[in-house]
Amino acid sequence: MVIKHKKWLVTGGCGFVGGSLIRKLLAAEPGCSIRVVDNLSGGTLEDLEQITEVHVAGTIGTMAESGVELVKADIRDAEAAMQAAAGADVIVHLAANTGVQPSLKKPVMDMECNVIGTVNYLEAARHNSVQDFVFASSSAPIGTAEPPITETAACRPISPYGASKLAGEAYCSAYYGSYGLKTVALRFSNVYGPFSVRKGSVVALFIRQALAGEAWTLNGDGRQTRDFIHIDDIVSALMTAAESPYGGEIYQISTQVETSVADMADMLSDILEKEAGLKARTVFGPPLNADVRRSWADITKARTRLGWEPGRDLREGLEETVRWFLQHGKG
Ligand SMILES: NC(=O)c1ccc[n+]([C@@H]2O[C@H](COP(=O)([O-])OP(=O)(O)OC[C@H]3O[C@@H](n4cnc5c(N)ncnc54)[C@H](O)[C@@H]3O)[C@@H](O)[C@H]2O)c1
Repeated sequence: MVIKHKKWLVTGGCGFVGGSLIRKLLAAEPGCSIRVVDNLSGGTLEDLEQITEVHVAGTIGTMAESGVELVKADIRDAEAAMQAAAGADVIVHLAANTGVQPSLKKPVMDMECNVIGTVNYLEAARHNSVQDFVFASSSAPIGTAEPPITETAACRPISPYGASKLAGEAYCSAYYGSYGLKTVALRFSNVYGPFSVRKGSVVALFIRQALAGEAWTLNGDGRQTRDFIHIDDIVSALMTAAESPYGGEIYQISTQVETSVADMADMLSDILEKEAGLKARTVFGPPLNADVRRSWADITKARTRLGWEPGRDLREGLEETVRWFLQHGKG
């Protein structure tokens, strides 16, 4: 893929999605310049240093012509956002309070990070004449809509996380409508894959638990469904969206395959036994609060308008993920 933009600002670049994006960007365009803004609440400097050499910024200066720089800052800091965006061609805004369950514990913090933090970077983009802005949204804004989810379905979030991501989408739309900033919001479904060692999402959690000899927990009857998507497909969607000529758009980014958590766990169990001789143990727990029952999305719009296509099969992606954890990530 030819990369148009040379100077990338990636918020949350020390995290799972951010690190994977940076790895791919550097492979595609070794001479590009990447500035990461991260408060290191989730990812770490060491995570980033495993990808490449990192310059840790003492003060926020102009963006270098090439190389990776880490600015340790919180996205709630508007001044840092304004300085960090100077010279960027594109902002990929990934930093967030991630996930439904953390948002239930701290809804105000969730709002501050995901709404105010997002507006800070939209403002920074506007004032620094940044060309493109890609926002990591989620299926959570939709809430309990009957699947397949589409971009036109009415949003009725059932968690603070869903509400804060919906507000982020709304501000992206508003900044395109009011200021012409070319924003794209991508609604990721449930992302899994290598490098997810710190993630609390179900695939990474189950693998970690199995490797530690612990039972994993199926909440409720385990028949709740998700649209599991490999990290490679998320990264290709981010790179495609960053170069898209259309602004003010929302896209569902998923695989169109509905899989229950119990069926995914059966696959994992089989893979763990074949790859590591491990016998996974399952216990049942109460249903999680604000857990959507069925979730899978229609990706016609991303296919036709973005020209994006997911390429990874779930079983094969889980095998790769288990092998990666066996080599790197017992935690
Ligand atoms: N992974 C998924 O399954 C999934 C699904 C849907 C949407 N998303 C969205 O994609 C984005 C990236 O997710 P991820 O899986 O890489 O998450 P992650 O937790 O691995 O990474 C997030 C990064 O953001 C940083 N961060 C968090 N709060 C911050 C703050 N206030 N200021 C500065 N940095 C902060 C963390 O330190 C971390 O390095 C998030 O916006 C998330 O909501 C992820």
